[in-house]
This record gives sequence, C-alpha cells and structure tokens, in this order.
Amino acid sequence: MQRRDFNLLLQRSALALALTPWTQAMAEPVAQRISWRTQPFALGVASGRPRSDSLVLWTRLLLRADDAHLANKALPVELEVFVDAALKQRVQVHTITTNAVRGHSVHAQLKNLKPATDYWYRFRCGDAFSAVGHARTAPALNADVQQLRLALTSCQNFEHGLYVAHQEIAKEPLDFVLFMGDYIYESNNPQTLPRKHNNEEPKTLAQYRTRYEQYKADPMLQASHAAHTWVLMWDDHEVVNDYANDLDPAYSDPTVFLKRRAAAYRAYFEHQPLWLGPDSQSREQASMRLHDRFQWGQLAELWTLDCRQFRSHHACSKPGSGGGRLVLSCDELADPSRTMLGFEQEAWLNEGLSASTRQWKLLAQGTQISSTRIFTPLGRATYTEAWDGYATARERLLKGVQSNQISNVITLGGDVHMNVAANLRLEANEESSPIIASEFVTTSISSRGLSESATQTIKANNSDILHMRADERGYALIQVDPQRVQCEFRTTPTPAGSLESLSVQAVYYVETGQPGPKRLA
Ligand SMILES: [Fe+2]
Repeated sequence: MQRRDFNLLLQRSALALALTPWTQAMAEPVAQRISWRTQPFALGVASGRPRSDSLVLWTRLLLRADDAHLANKALPVELEVFVDAALKQRVQVHTITTNAVRGHSVHAQLKNLKPATDYWYRFRCGDAFSAVGHARTAPALNADVQQLRLALTSCQNFEHGLYVAHQEIAKEPLDFVLFMGDYIYESNNPQTLPRKHNNEEPKTLAQYRTRYEQYKADPMLQASHAAHTWVLMWDDHEVVNDYANDLDPAYSDPTVFLKRRAAAYRAYFEHQPLWLGPDSQSREQASMRLHDRFQWGQLAELWTLDCRQFRSHHACSKPGSGGGRLVLSCDELADPSRTMLGFEQEAWLNEGLSASTRQWKLLAQGTQISSTRIFTPLGRATYTEAWDGYATARERLLKGVQSNQISNVITLGGDVHMNVAANLRLEANEESSPIIASEFVTTSISSRGLSESATQTIKANNSDILHMRADERGYALIQVDPQRVQCEFRTTPTPAGSLESLSVQAVYYVETGQPGPKRLA
C-alpha cells in the first residue's frame, strides 16, 4: 500500500470513529503509565456484524482486585487492524476510551474496509496486549459469490459440558459463525455436573456480568470468537427461561421483570461484538434492537429474527404462571392477533423478503418452526413455547412466502437441543399441501437434549420431520452455493471431555427451486 493511501485510510477511520456514539478518538496515544498486575484481556476478543465495508470489534477489560485502583479511571484502549496474520501491514489504528459505566467494555465499528477481505486485530491498554483476532468482511453487494460457509450454533449451557464444538469451529475455514441464542444460562443446577456456574442466578447487571465473565473465560469459546466473525441472536436464557416479551414464567409484575430484562440486555451488549446497545429512551431501558439483515453478494440474504422481545405471551398459561407447556385444547392458539416477531418486525421481514433478488433467503430465528404436536388419547397436544404456540403467526409467515412466490427459503434455528431437517408446508404433515420452504435446526453446543422416547414420539407424529436427533451435541455446518444449500450435522455423543472430535451425524441438502431437504449421507 502507498504511504498516501495509508494516511488517507487513517484519516477516514478517524473520521468514522468521531461520528460513532460508543467510541471516542483521542489526540494522545495510549498512556504508557498504565501497568497491569493481572492480564485485563482475560475475556478474549470478538468481531461481528459483517458488512462489505464494516465490522464491529469487541473486547472488555476485566479488572481484578490487584488493579482495583484503575476501576474509576477512564481507560484508553488502542485497537490496531492489520491485513496480514503476521501483523506487519497495519491499516487502521484507533483509541477507544472505556470506563466502569460501560463495564469496561470496548466496542469499535471499523469503516472503510474492503469487501470479502480478511483482517487481523488486537487491543492494547498500557502494557497489556489482547490475543489476536481474525475477522472477515462480507462480499460486495453485487458480487457473484460462489460459496458461503457458516457454522450454525446455539445453546451452550456451561454446566452441561465443554465446548468441543467451538474447538472444532475455531479450526474450520468459515465466513462466519451464526449463533442463534442461549449464549449463557441463568439457572443453576444443583445436581453433579461436569462444570458449575460460579454465582447465584443473575437478576442484576453485576450478577449478569459475573455470569458472562465465567462463560467468556472459556478457552474454546474464546478461540471460536478469535477465529471468526460472529452473527448473533439471543433466545430466552440470556434473560430467564421461557420469558415472553414483558412477562417471565413466575408472572412477575412486568415493571419488575423489565428491570431484570434491562440488566440482562445491557450485560449481553457489553459482552458481544454489537454496535447498538439498549435503547435509552425505552421503558426501563429494557428494549434493544437485535434483529438484522446481512447480504452475501448475490448468493444469499440472511435475516436474524428476534423471537423473544416482541412475542405475545404464551397461549393458555396456567393462572399465575407463564412459560411454555403442553396443552390439549386451547382456542387462543387460533387467535390471529398472536405474534412471534411483533407486527413491526414481521412487516420489516415481509418487505425485505418480497424485495430480495438474492438466490437464497436464509431466515435465522431462535427456535423450531416445523410442528412437533403429538396425538394423545385425549386429543392433539401442543407445546406452546415454539412456533406451534404461535400457529397463526407461522401461517402468516409461510403464506407470505407462498403468495409472493418467494423461492429458495431456508429457515435456520436452534433452542431445542436437537438436529432437525424438515419440510415446511402451510398445512403441516399434509401431503396435499405443497412444501414451500425447508428447515434446518442445529443441536446444542453443550445443553442436554430430550429423551430418546420423546424424540421418537414427536418424529412418529410429524411426517414433515425428516431428521430429528436429540442425543448428540455439536453444530451444523451450512454450505451455500448457487445450486444448493447443504447442512452437515457435526456432533459428539459426549461433550464433557476436551479430546473428543466431532463426526458426521447426517448430511441433508436443498436444491435450488426444489424446496424440502433431501438426505445425502
Ligand atoms: Fe437452550
């Protein structure tokens, strides 16, 4: 690179930083006086939100007791960005100031990047350096892209086992990691397990921070973040199991619950490579825009959908308690005013879907769309937590795809701790109803799954489910090319030890113009 171009890049990046709310360009270089007794970059580094010209980079300083005298100071953190793994060609440098109000988190939005380009980065504060991270930008919007490789992941209960899936993901050549929720778990299990949460169930910002500190210290999770850019969506456990909008399963007063949700959302933002934090104008500051859209040249468009923040309360709850449950008869399920995404997000999705000209439309959402209802002697039983509990919203989504003749729609999900490949029809399991989209759901990174008998019962009752296994942990390797989308379920039966390697449980694919997964292996 010419020196002039280099200087221009530096100027442009300084301008970009000056315009952004969470970063602050400083005239002075990092104060050399700061000397750490304990490594402050103990939570790793991360990159996210890949665009063709921008990325978000993250770290958070962890101040131990030895360094407590720094806790109330504004701390300058230098960020260096390179175009080579040897860190010889530096293309951007920024200084970001953080403090205790931000939990000492650091968020930087890099701009003026090149499309489909690899970058390496590291942070420095005083005499401490972070690990080096790798990130990759999206291709140019109109690029003729031949391949997209991503790891579909979700559900990493720390207590249930080691993150061997992340150990493998860190070594895979990928464009990005797509994480669909349950990054942390809030509950503590008193049974003997491979690992233990180290604090009480979080309800306050300080308690959620402590929970993230434990998760973020995991070396396999850190390796996965350092190796790849991540695209993130949350589910329920980032706040509390089975919450819906402003209601928790304990049926707390919504004002009380929203305070907890605000603490959880803030802690989530402080620990992830995201640019938009909680909305300071919202009620209890408990709202945060997370749903997003990503383009991968002309090959694919990806929507990440928030199925928690805006959903209707669970249908047919027991008086005084919320959360999902099995119901036999429930007229509320047919109520057209029920929504999974909220009507605003729904309209945003429909508009984008109808206008998209890209080959594949990937709808990433927190849970399972295909039906898991089961016949019982007393009638058909519906579990109200996933899309079965929001059947009218699911019908609107699928009708929109059908009536607008939107082809090549693939839904990607997590949450249910099992690998699923399924047909999506307007009338679930009805052979006469055409297949209009295809679904892949990944098993959990570590969280335990349903029993074999429950899995078999669901599968036997739902012919649209082509593959369903809850007995193994892992991730789904999704490879997209112009002709097909392939899903390789990569799993291990036991996530507890660090030495296991993953193997192929099954491979499914969808051909362009032919909705419905087919088995390859
Ligand atoms: Fe989960």
